[in-house]
Formats: sequence, C-alpha cells, structure tokens
Amino acid sequence: MNPSQASAQAEQICRLAPVIPVLVVHDPAHAAPLARALVAGGLPALEVTLRTPAALEVIAEMATVEGGTVGAGTLLTPADVSAAVKAGARFGVSPGSTAKLLDAAEEAELPMLPGAATSTEAMALLERGYTVQKFFPAEANGGAPALKAIGAPLPQIRFCPTGGVSLKNAPDYLGLSNTLCVGGSWVAPQDKVEAGDWDGITELAREAAALAR
Ligand code: 3PG
Repeated sequence: MNPSQASAQAEQICRLAPVIPVLVVHDPAHAAPLARALVAGGLPALEVTLRTPAALEVIAEMATVEGGTVGAGTLLTPADVSAAVKAGARFGVSPGSTAKLLDAAEEAELPMLPGAATSTEAMALLERGYTVQKFFPAEANGGAPALKAIGAPLPQIRFCPTGGVSLKNAPDYLGLSNTLCVGGSWVAPQDKVEAGDWDGITELAREAAALAR
C-alpha cells in the first residue's frame, strides 16, 4: 500500500465519527464489552494502544465486535506493525514517524495515521505522500490555534489531533478546516472500564459522537 492509499483509507476511518477513542486496556475480558459500548454510542473507530501486555489480545477480541473498526496505537517499530496486523488491526497510529516504521506499515498494507508535531515533521510526511496525519501532542503543542496556524501554509494536510483533547476543547479542533476528527481517551475512563460501567461509557460515546464537525 502506498502512502496516498494509506492516507485515503485513514481519511475514511477518521470520517466515521468525530472522535476516535484512545484505549489503554489492561484486561482482555474488558475488550469486547468496551468495544460494544463505544460502537453502541456511535464511535466505531477504536484505537487500542500497545501499552499494556494485553493489548494484542484486546485488539483480537475487539476485531470480532460487529460495527467496529479496530486499530493499533503507539506503533513504534516494524515488530509492532506485524504484531498489530496479526492481531487484526485495520489501521495503525503512531506518536511520530520513522522511515523504518512507515516502510513496515506500507509493506504490511496497514493504513497509517502517523504523528507530527511541527511543520517540518508534517512536511516530511507530506513529501512521502501522507496527507492525513495525527497532530500530537495536540494541547501541549499549542492546541487548536497551533493546528490552525499549521493549516495556513499546509492546507493539503488533514489531521486527527490527539493528546489532551476533551469534550470541552474538541469543538475548537473540529471547527478547523484541516481537522477530520480528534482522538481522546476521555470516552473510556479507567474507573468506568474497571467497574464495567458499559452504559456509562456508551453515554460518554454518545456525547462525543454528537460533536459537530
Ligand atoms: C495518548 O497518548 O494516550 C493519546 O494521545 C491520548 O491522549 P489523552 O489521554 O490526552 O486523550
């Protein structure tokens, strides 16, 4: 898969809903009910971060949930890419990008949402063909005003800002012409996941899915 095909697919995934939940799941038993709760609330694209020992099992479980599109986040190495694909991930997300990582994702046919924090990083990805990127860490980088400013000279790049995004500040990003969707962990708080409060998570997902773009 070449980078422009990867970005076209990443754009379709970003257009599924205003928010991509960023999930850190410790217990594989939580995977299916959590995915079902988020999908029921209107958030079908799910990013499972490879930050827990259970993450690959969680991806495999979530991939069986009807209506969901499950991806793997925190991809750092080619080995992460192959493990994610093997587990059933349909897209990949990374906090930044390296040539080795992008080579591996292209080779494995995994649509990538690679991270950029500066104009230079965004331009390097654009030069390679990635027109859809993750703006990370969004709030710490200056938030929506910074992303708007990057969009002035680089309007051909569309972003999924992630990192410090909340229900409250999401509209600031979603109102920008260069933002397709946002990523955030607020829709699946650890306490609700641990307590098995799936209805509470569906409610948070509903609120997020209703955000205007
Ligand atoms: C992360 O790195 O965990 C993501 O960027 C999500 O960040 P958040 O917890 O601030 O939504």
